[in-house]
Amino acid sequence: ATEAEEKDLVIIGGGVAGYVAAIKAGQEGMKVTCIEKRGTLGGTCLNVGCIPSKSLLNNSHLYHQVLHDTKHRGIEVGDVKLNLEQLMKAKDLSVSGLTKGVEFLLKKNGVEYIKGTGTFKDEHTISVQLNDGGETSVVGKNILIATGSEATPFPGLEIDEKRVVTSTGAIALKEVPKKMLVIGGGIIGLEMASVWQRLGSDVTVVEYLDLIGGPGMDAEIAKASQKILKKQGISFKTNTKVLSGDTTGDQIKLEVEAAKGGKAETLEADVVLVAIGRRPYTGGLGLENVGVDVDERGRVVIDSEYRTKVPHIRCVGDVTFGPMLAHKAEEEAVAVVEYIKKGYGHVNYGCIPSVMYTFPEVAWVGQSEQELKKAGIKYRVGTFPFSANSRAKTNLDTDGMVKMLADPETDRLLGVHIIGPNAGEMIAEGTLALEYGASSEDIARTCHAHPTLAEAFKEAAMATHGKAIHF
Ligand code: FAD
Ligand code: NAI
Repeated sequence: ATEAEEKDLVIIGGGVAGYVAAIKAGQEGMKVTCIEKRGTLGGTCLNVGCIPSKSLLNNSHLYHQVLHDTKHRGIEVGDVKLNLEQLMKAKDLSVSGLTKGVEFLLKKNGVEYIKGTGTFKDEHTISVQLNDGGETSVVGKNILIATGSEATPFPGLEIDEKRVVTSTGAIALKEVPKKMLVIGGGIIGLEMASVWQRLGSDVTVVEYLDLIGGPGMDAEIAKASQKILKKQGISFKTNTKVLSGDTTGDQIKLEVEAAKGGKAETLEADVVLVAIGRRPYTGGLGLENVGVDVDERGRVVIDSEYRTKVPHIRCVGDVTFGPMLAHKAEEEAVAVVEYIKKGYGHVNYGCIPSVMYTFPEVAWVGQSEQELKKAGIKYRVGTFPFSANSRAKTNLDTDGMVKMLADPETDRLLGVHIIGPNAGEMIAEGTLALEYGASSEDIARTCHAHPTLAEAFKEAAMATHGKAIHF
């Protein structure tokens, strides 16, 4: 390629990692190409992940609330009906609006967007199989791998996305299954179980470990969440492993047994959701052509500046190390462009919030009690229940609590764990506090508006530092 044709940055993948890097690089005046094979931008998150799942969670919650939670508030409703087709249309509208918005942003920042599948030809050249047929190639001074992740399959259970589904099928079911089995009680399993249980399905979650919530969730909070979700009607089989599945009959059969040697039983359902984690996706990328390494779990190996073994080929997002979260991918995307352009960048991996969008939401940042114990770090705990918070009481939504962990000597915040209404918004305050190295006293001395749920956050800090006022 001639100098003029060479791009400053060629990005493979137009998910959150890829498109954010593209916009940032465009803003920095770089010549950028972004290659995406899906046909739309936004990756897993916008197309089949964060966005559609939150649309379904929001509207299924509203439906469930109108059905079961209005009378005592003084609201009498008539005939309430579910229109699943319209619920799905509303979801599709959120998705298409956002993915088109991203396409507009790429254009606005002068990014070339190619619809096709990118493969390494050599260390600087990516050949692209165009979605519309034909082939082209792009040359880049720098290349960014941002190809994301895919659902981990369950051995022996073939995914058809209709009866045996991953999250992608679970957000697009044509009717409410009478019975649904969820393999894996992590975030995807619990969010999807919530959606379909609210819409009328009889849902059982099978989890291998003794706790739901997946990695990182504080055990006390996970237990509280399970209790509330159970009260809502979701059944749980924890400490249970799935041995095999049989999809030949009308009903799908799963053979399960207690994780630590117990008697086997057969569970039946119309739909089975496989939600046992996600794995990095590098299929068809041709990494072998350039000698970029992946580790034993398929993650692209990088250094602290996101460089692979080939220094001008970098990698961010789900396809490499760290939590598989959209906002983590976004932080890395900005940082990697800064490294390329300026030689320095920054992501604080100790300060990445997690949110599970069930009702009530669960959100956390920093370390959990079990992580602190394991690391031998001393800590002090302060909690405050929403049942003692005036706003939660007026809203008649009092399930949950705020829990804070702080260093007993310096009082520096170590972790915040919330289960409760709007926990996902409230955790931003905890994240900011942690990022700024706040002590629990700093928070306790910060005025919070009344009556707000956020006062529970302040009171938990008071309880960590000294004593809460209202509990
Ligand atoms: P991806 O979003 O997977 O994007 C990678 C893109 O690269 C894809 O579009 C793919 O088509 C493309 N691609 C791959 N190979 C090639 C190639 N060779 N050529 C061209 N294009 C290629 N995270 C949150 O933070 N909050 C949430 O609420 C949340 N909810 C989720 C719900 C579900 C059901 C799922 C499955 C995930 C959820 N996530 C959530 C996780 C989030 O979606 C991911 O962390 C995020 O999408 C990662 O971004 P990424 O750009 O690294 O990868
Ligand atoms: P996960 O790792 O969160 O949970 C998987 C669960 O399945 C774990 O609890 C694990 O113990 C269990 N499990 C594994 N193998 C099993 C087996 N054979 N039988 C029974 N249980 C088994 O993975 P999940 O829920 O699939 O989500 C993948 C990723 O997607 C998450 O880690 C998260 O990063 C991201 N995500 C984030 C969301 C959010 O931020 N709100 C929403 C959905 C997904």
